[in-house]
Amino acid sequence: MEKIDIHCHILPGIDDGAGSEDESIRMLKAAYSQGICSVVATPHASPEYPDSRPEVIRRLCAELEERARREIAPEFRIYPGQEILSTDSVLEKLESGNFLSLAESAYVLVEFFPSTPYSSIYRVIREFGMTSYVPVLAHIERYEALREEGRVEELIRTGAYMQMNYRIIGGKWYDRSVRWCREMLEEGNIHFLGTDMHHAAYRAPETGAAMKWLEKHLDQDYLADICIGNVRKLLKDIRI
Ligand SMILES: [Fe+2]
Repeated sequence: MEKIDIHCHILPGIDDGAGSEDESIRMLKAAYSQGICSVVATPHASPEYPDSRPEVIRRLCAELEERARREIAPEFRIYPGQEILSTDSVLEKLESGNFLSLAESAYVLVEFFPSTPYSSIYRVIREFGMTSYVPVLAHIERYEALREEGRVEELIRTGAYMQMNYRIIGGKWYDRSVRWCREMLEEGNIHFLGTDMHHAAYRAPETGAAMKWLEKHLDQDYLADICIGNVRKLLKDIRI
C-alpha cells in the first residue's frame, strides 16, 4: 500500500537522525521499497538541537528532495516539518515562525516526555484549540498517561489527532503496549502512522510486520486513510 510518512528524522546532521546525505538516501530508498512515496521531514525541535531551525530545514529538504528525485523517483517529495517537544512557548514560537508545522499546514507534530501527566497533555491540547493550529500527538504508544480508558478519546474530542509508529504495531501479541496499540487501531482512534526512522541500520524504516497485522485486521478504507489519505488532506490543509 502507498504511504506518506509524516514522522521521520531524515535530514542529515540536524538532530539524532541521519548522519549524512548518503545515509538519508539509503533510508529513503528502504522506505520507498516499502511503499513510502513521500515524507514530511520532522527533525526534533528542542533546546538540544539548536541547528533545527526553519530556514535550515527548508534548505535541507529542498537539497535532499532534489537528490531523491534523481536517485529514487522523479515525483518523490520531502516536505519540511518538525517534531516539537512541548514547552510553554510552543504556540508563541509557531506564531512567530520559529517552529515549523507539518508541511506548512495547520497541523503540528507535538511530542511530550513519556512520563508527562495526563493533565499536562490535556492542557496543551486545550491551548491549541484556542489557535488555528491543530495538534498531532507524536508516537502515542509512548505515553503511559494515555493508557487509562477514555483518555485518547477525550483528547480527540478536544481537537487532537493521533500518530502511532509502525514499529510497535508489528510487535509480539503478548506485549501489553502492542495489544493496547492494536486496540486503539481497531477502535479507529489513530489518524496517522509514521516510521519515526532515524538511521539506515538502527531505527530504520520498518513497516513490514505492521502492515501484515494491519491488512489482516483493519477495514481497508480506514487503513488507506491512516497510511496516506489523511496525509493528503493534511498536505492540502483540510481538516480530517
Ligand atoms: Fe521522532
